[in-house]
Amino acid sequence: MPKKKTTAATMPGESTRILLSRSRVQTRIATLAREINRDFRDEPVHLVGVLKGAIFFLADLARHMSGEVSLDFISVSSYGKETQSSGQVRLTKDLDTSIEGRNVLLVEDILDTGLTVSYLLRVLEQRRPKRLRVAVLLDKTERRKVPVSADYVGFRIPNEFVVGYGLDYAERYRNLADVCVLSLHGKAKKEGAV
Ligand code: IMP
Repeated sequence: MPKKKTTAATMPGESTRILLSRSRVQTRIATLAREINRDFRDEPVHLVGVLKGAIFFLADLARHMSGEVSLDFISVSSYGKETQSSGQVRLTKDLDTSIEGRNVLLVEDILDTGLTVSYLLRVLEQRRPKRLRVAVLLDKTERRKVPVSADYVGFRIPNEFVVGYGLDYAERYRNLADVCVLSLHGKAKKEGAV
């Protein structure tokens, strides 16, 4: 079957192919939102999005949820311009409000090695939320370095470097509506890229 092409404006030596179409992503997020509402029994839910990759996922998830939803954002040091994790996680932007006694749902784009989510869970747990749960759009289970899992997973994906729907390569491709696999041709290949 021919590979589906994207309309992404790629750089020389880079190409993308659709892994998860925008409609599959939207359908799955609607289902996740229903599960989350059911589990939290329509109590207020405070969504904490991890900048910048989770913004589209958080925005669509929030719009599919019913009941009282509030939002905040946190930022950590991440891959930067490489496709390989440095293994170092550092808080670069903290939350604006306290989460003590609240139902918190940490919203992340992808669980890869697990270092980011396990670090954030440690940080947030210390602030005594009523409940702390994790939602990720994508899960690359085979890349895990620390034992951590999400309560809500959009899709389990193979070990391929993906971009789009918030995910970037060197800050590009976040605006693609589909989740795409990025291939690098004739460039120094980094871990995780194909
Ligand atoms: P972890 O700490 O290794 O689990 O990585 C989490 C972060 O790495 C995510 O929030 C992403 O920013 C980035 N990341 C991991 N895999 C990918 C990928 O396939 N494409 C783009 N970014 C990724």
